[in-house]
Amino acid sequence: MTLRIVPALVLLCLVAFQIGSATAQTSQRMVVNADLGQDTISRHLYGHFAEHLGRGIYDGIWVKAKSGGWQVREDVVEALRAIRIPNLRWPGGCFADYYHWQDGIGPHDDRPTIVNNLWGGVTEDNSFGTHELMDLVEQLGAEAVVVGNVGSGTVQEMSQWWEYMNHPGTSPMANLRRQNGRDKPWNVRYWGVGNESWGCGGNMRPEYYADEYKRFATYLHAYGNVRPFRIAAGAAGDNYEWTEVMMREAGSMIDGIDLHHYTITGTWEKKGRATRFTEAEWLELMKNSLRWDELLTRHSAIMDQYDPEKRVWLIAGEWGTWHEGEPGSNPGFLYQQNTLRDALSASLALNIFNRHVERVKMANIAQTVNVLQAMILTQGEQMILTPTYHVFELYSVHHDAVSLPITLDAGRYEHGGESIPAVSASASRDRDGRIHITMTNVDPKQARTVNATLRGQRASQVSGRILTADEMNAHNTFEQPNAVQPASFNGARLSGERLTVQLPPKSLVVLELR
Ligand code: AHR
Repeated sequence: MTLRIVPALVLLCLVAFQIGSATAQTSQRMVVNADLGQDTISRHLYGHFAEHLGRGIYDGIWVKAKSGGWQVREDVVEALRAIRIPNLRWPGGCFADYYHWQDGIGPHDDRPTIVNNLWGGVTEDNSFGTHELMDLVEQLGAEAVVVGNVGSGTVQEMSQWWEYMNHPGTSPMANLRRQNGRDKPWNVRYWGVGNESWGCGGNMRPEYYADEYKRFATYLHAYGNVRPFRIAAGAAGDNYEWTEVMMREAGSMIDGIDLHHYTITGTWEKKGRATRFTEAEWLELMKNSLRWDELLTRHSAIMDQYDPEKRVWLIAGEWGTWHEGEPGSNPGFLYQQNTLRDALSASLALNIFNRHVERVKMANIAQTVNVLQAMILTQGEQMILTPTYHVFELYSVHHDAVSLPITLDAGRYEHGGESIPAVSASASRDRDGRIHITMTNVDPKQARTVNATLRGQRASQVSGRILTADEMNAHNTFEQPNAVQPASFNGARLSGERLTVQLPPKSLVVLELR
């Protein structure tokens, strides 16, 4: 009896060892709980940010027309409409606490200039202001997220701007709006009360800002059906004390708190390059993108103590990669190229956002055109879409879909003594019952097989698209605009509730199951 059991045990151990070692190398397991989703992935998690910075607004969005006046770039609008951008945060960033909105209304020729001392010291003519922003967001089918000036502005100035945009009846500011050609209010809801008030927005202590925040927020009144969704300047990265103080001192008057975190390699003083990097820097960037999970978990835990109902949104109001500027560009313009590495880094962050939706309801990647991790780069009349743009297009399937909990044995990607999870994923079920799974393999050398189980819903068809390239630094240029673009993917097989996905190295795949 014992003799018969021992060889069987040895065989079992051998098989187990082989499965174990195969798992460690190339094969991951995943369960998608299609019947357990509760919270919606707000489309506002796929929001954008355009500051008066470098060639972001002027040149990128707003250009001189051949006839002499100014106009919005139609190619840019069309491209942004295609990814269904849900919101646009404006006018900053640091510029917000520098901006006086009344300089940006009325006839263009009468507007005063402003020197953008924060970003490159250029003189702007204020031709892009409130009306131009609102025309743009209307063309985009998006909502504005307006950030008011606390740092160098007054309570009256901010409250009048709110009134100018939203008062439906007769009022001094509504009448001024009408004089400037707009009868109906715009009904802007999302309103930032300052930006980075711990830094460029006034260098305040959280206790001081909490008091200022309450003072400014008090004078944002509901008009008609529109009440302000008041967004407080949130922490930088892991400054948990900021969140603690804000929630304790002002939580009852806050609707959203705006956390900022940028993903860099190197140091703030000497950042790595966008297109020329080593594999160690590839891993470093991915590792720093994955920090979003810890940041959201820990800031949410603090907020839970003061707001267990999760009424207050945690907003990732500025996020993305920040590299050294392109050689030859004005360092104050923050103009950087955008490679497959940036795209996969964005997909890691978005997968994390999709999994934190009980508290995290809005995010704004920095920045839309020609600045930091842009969707679009322009050169004169030419325009290219970056790999990150394609991520936003591929992930648009998650907008307003129900986030599905997943469990994932992610495996490890190792290089130079460092290691990070190799595979990242998120999943959702849309209104038509379709399931979408986005999966990223950050390992630049090794393919991964994901053996997944779809629990709680039957699907009979799977289709997919992939974003990948031969080189880690592949990117689109004005000469080769389509070097990195999505392609159809046929590496997924469905059999009953079992789904097998072959993820090539350094790739992102989106699957649709029906
Ligand atoms: O996005 C660039 C700058 O980064 C923003 O102006 C500021 O808010 C942040 O520090």
